[in-house]
Amino acid sequence: MNTVALMSRDTLLLKQMQEAFARCAPQLSAVLADDPRAATAQIAACWFPLPDSLAALPNLQVIHSVAAGIDHLEHDPSCPDLPVCRVVDPGHRQGMTEYVRWAVIHFHRGFDQVLEQQRQQHWERPLQRPAREFRIGVMGLGSLGSAIAQDLASAGYEVRGWARSKKDLPGVQTFAGTGAFHPFLDGVELLINLLPLTHETRGILNRQTFEHLANGAALVNVGRGGHLNIEDLRQALARGKLRGALLDVFEQEPLPADHPLWKTPGVTITPHMASAASHDCIADQIAENFRRLNAGEPLLNSADRLLGY
Ligand SMILES: NC(=O)c1ccc[n+]([C@@H]2O[C@H](COP(=O)([O-])OP(=O)(O)OC[C@H]3O[C@@H](n4cnc5c(N)ncnc54)[C@H](OP(=O)(O)O)[C@@H]3O)[C@@H](O)[C@H]2O)c1
Repeated sequence: MNTVALMSRDTLLLKQMQEAFARCAPQLSAVLADDPRAATAQIAACWFPLPDSLAALPNLQVIHSVAAGIDHLEHDPSCPDLPVCRVVDPGHRQGMTEYVRWAVIHFHRGFDQVLEQQRQQHWERPLQRPAREFRIGVMGLGSLGSAIAQDLASAGYEVRGWARSKKDLPGVQTFAGTGAFHPFLDGVELLINLLPLTHETRGILNRQTFEHLANGAALVNVGRGGHLNIEDLRQALARGKLRGALLDVFEQEPLPADHPLWKTPGVTITPHMASAASHDCIADQIAENFRRLNAGEPLLNSADRLLGY
């Protein structure tokens, strides 16, 4: 029997994944780590695996993230050096597009300001500026970032995008590599982070980055919490360099109830909800990779463990 070991500290997710495998891939046996059958698993399906859990599976051939990112695999330092795959769900792009559209309208049309004005019972109409005059920068032009950048460009915004390698996206001015990072940031009024968390990108949302943006710019972090230097953000907000930040991801999730970010003026918090791959899509893609593994074919959505994405 082909066996998938489901590895996560999130017990609700484990239950939902087991149900999805039963529905979509009944030819596979999807078992939890404490099931004796896990010892025979060829693929581990992971979301924040527990420390030392992966090393306990002697027959593993593939480590499969159940998400777009693979950074969470680092939570198990015993993770063996095996091929790593991730899930790319077209529905992921749809969810992220919806979330980012809301964020863009929120800042472009000044809803952040009028919501604050309402608290003060103050009536003042914000200036309506054409979308083409609102400069948006998208960090990361992969599966999600390229879809977001093109969606915003087709909505009329002035869109820039930055990635490691040069991209050609209709309506988007693209920048590539470390040397082009500061030119990319110059004058950006809304910065959207859709990078993977790697040793190169950790802490990239910092004071130096904020300094290159337009005065009073806003930040949307939908990448990972580890991208953001929280103290630099709080200082940039306090001195008005940034006017607001919409944060969906955090180093510690759930964000602890006493965390200062909850009450930082200008910060809006959402609970890592921007987009998630559907459980059925995860089961389908892992089942397809199981078939490919058995047939000796190249795996779908391989990631580069060294690059970190
Ligand atoms: N908040 C949420 O609900 C949520 C949901 C899904 C995903 N995410 C986050 O979004 C991230 C992106 O997902 P994805 O599927 O779009 O990833 P992806 O397809 O792997 O794309 C990553 C992009 O980042 C660029 N990049 C990586 N390292 C870079 C560096 N050092 N400098 C400049 N650019 C760099 C890559 O450049 P190249 O194209 O040149 O390789 C690529 O364009 C995920 O890793 C995850 O952290 C969040």
